[in-house]
Amino acid sequence: MSRLDSAIRRLQAQRACLDLAAAAIAGVPGVVFELGLGNGRTFDHLRERLPGREIFVFERKVAAHPSCIPDDEHLLLGDFAETLPPAVERMAGMVAMVHGDVGSGRAEIDAEIAALISRLLPPALAPGAIVLCDQTLSLAEVEVLPLPEGVQPGRYHLYRRPDSSAA
Ligand SMILES: C[S@@+](CC[C@H](N)C(=O)[O-])C[C@H]1O[C@@H](n2cnc3c(N)ncnc32)[C@H](O)[C@@H]1O
Repeated sequence: MSRLDSAIRRLQAQRACLDLAAAAIAGVPGVVFELGLGNGRTFDHLRERLPGREIFVFERKVAAHPSCIPDDEHLLLGDFAETLPPAVERMAGMVAMVHGDVGSGRAEIDAEIAALISRLLPPALAPGAIVLCDQTLSLAEVEVLPLPEGVQPGRYHLYRRPDSSAA
């Protein structure tokens, strides 16, 4: 497979997972966390798919397309290790969806970030919340969801915090 084919597949898989997650939280009130703004592609997709949802974006250094930069109130600038803990405390139980696209391509660094996110995130999750990430996470009290059709195992990872009040 050419690198072009591989890039297209990766983006198609990402979009399929984002669309599945956006549909899955239709009945789950709460805000969205976007971990890693990058050039703003997935942030832009999420704000289009989830009109009316507040999206808080975490990023250490903004380098996005100017039209895809959130306002100051919704941009949490700095390392996740510093910005996630206060946000999780402030929005405990109020986060309906978390999207993490944080891979650097360096396995050791990616494993550290995945461990950090896995440790810090759980108190933020609302019942029924969906977490999707390009890294394997090890989150307490979530179930692993199947990937959308056509998405290769391991390309993305989907989790849901069960809602014990649901019938
Ligand atoms: C792959 S890019 C995100 C691409 C984005 N989803 C898009 O569609 O354009 C990953 C981003 O995560 C950010 N990032 C990685 N580790 C971070 C950390 N520990 N704290 C804050 N930001 C981090 C990087 O700066 C980078 O912009």
